[in-house]
Amino acid sequence: MKKHPKPRSYFIKRVLKKIENKEHRGVKEWYNERCYGNLYKWKGNKVFKLSVINDFYYTVYRHLKKRMQRVEIDHIIDIGCHKATQSELFCKDYQYIGIDNKMYCQHFFNCNERNVTFIFGNFPNEINVDLSNSVVITTGALGQKIDPNMETESGKQALLDKLEQSKILYTNLSNPIFEELKMIFKTVELLPNDTCCFVN
Ligand SMILES: C[S@@+](CC[C@H](N)C(=O)[O-])C[C@H]1O[C@@H](n2cnc3c(N)ncnc32)[C@H](O)[C@@H]1O
Repeated sequence: MKKHPKPRSYFIKRVLKKIENKEHRGVKEWYNERCYGNLYKWKGNKVFKLSVINDFYYTVYRHLKKRMQRVEIDHIIDIGCHKATQSELFCKDYQYIGIDNKMYCQHFFNCNERNVTFIFGNFPNEINVDLSNSVVITTGALGQKIDPNMETESGKQALLDKLEQSKILYTNLSNPIFEELKMIFKTVELLPNDTCCFVN
């Protein structure tokens, strides 16, 4: 039977409930600080809710559910995952690996879930992950000014060489390395919400 994508509100509710009841104290405090000590009030705030599961990640989730059902996928690798509340979209059906080079606090969202792993470090030079058979997701991170790989031409080339190994890559249409990625992947599909999907 075909599984339909669940609505975004389903995931937002789950994330907020987990922050409140289930998550590690460190994660809860981190969100509480960002909500000026009033998580309850911010739970009703639309902007806060949409940042918990943003447009880009929900577009990727829908696309994976609707168009990639038949593709064998080992891992979802989210590079520049930040606190990774978006892992809620993927951790039921896939193994999710979140990577980030900044430690925002000692615990990440969903870090106690069986299917969720976090790796701390700079991708790709400090992190040894096999991208073949994986879906790589990166938004606002790789290829952007914030990405240390973009400081040198050789760093940028090493990044592109590594990304070429992935089976599927989701990133932003506005990513500064979009044209280079187009050259190394076989196809690119443009999706809503500044999202694109490269396939090899
Ligand atoms: C603007 S945040 C985006 C967070 C998340 N992807 C989102 O859309 O909500 C970018 C994150 O990417 C991380 N980052 C940037 N370049 C990276 C790299 N080469 N390796 C690991 N993390 C990186 C930064 O530390 C930062 O947390």
